[in-house]
Amino acid sequence: MSWRHPRAPRHEFLNLDYYRRLANIAEQAKLDAIFIADHLGIWDTYGSGLTHYANPRLEPLSPVSALSAVTKDIAFMVTASTSYTEPFNTARMFASIDHISRGRVSWNVVTSALEEEAVNFGRDANIDHATRYERAGEFLDVAKALWDSWEDDALVIDKDSGVFAD
Ligand SMILES: Cc1cc2nc3c(=O)[nH]c(=O)nc-3n(C[C@H](O)[C@H](O)[C@H](O)COP(=O)(O)O)c2cc1C
Repeated sequence: MSWRHPRAPRHEFLNLDYYRRLANIAEQAKLDAIFIADHLGIWDTYGSGLTHYANPRLEPLSPVSALSAVTKDIAFMVTASTSYTEPFNTARMFASIDHISRGRVSWNVVTSALEEEAVNFGRDANIDHATRYERAGEFLDVAKALWDSWEDDALVIDKDSGVFAD
């Protein structure tokens, strides 16, 4: 219920300037990293509908991409689920933001435990715990293999010889 606190944000929780100010304060205070939680649905714990409580959020990699351009040293720990996407998509998004942020993004791997998330992907109920974590293990193996599938010096980009990649 913290949204009702006098100093809590109102509509600016959808506004980049709000996060930019927080990130700048955190960076000036010499914090190492900002942790960003996420769920693939609106967590409606108290069954109130959206009237009194809900936690809609921005999809986190989008604001983090922008924030990495207006900060210098602080890192971002970004939550992403292994249950409702493919390893290629997730590995590509984190690899892209790794380049853009110059290595300042890490991944909080979650498996999505809420019913509210399952129904957003056409399921009647949540996936059972063991299945989610078995998938998460394989998902991580595949993501890591994708990240290592090009060697660090693979990009040659030699205009004279015409060799782009080795
Ligand atoms: C500090 C902390 C942050 C977490 N943040 C998220 C989150 O952003 N999104 C999410 O889906 N789960 C989040 N979780 C839940 C965990 O991914 C996990 O589901 C939970 O700890 C229960 O463990 P279990 O999945 O083995 O039952 C968080 C847990 C902790 C302890």
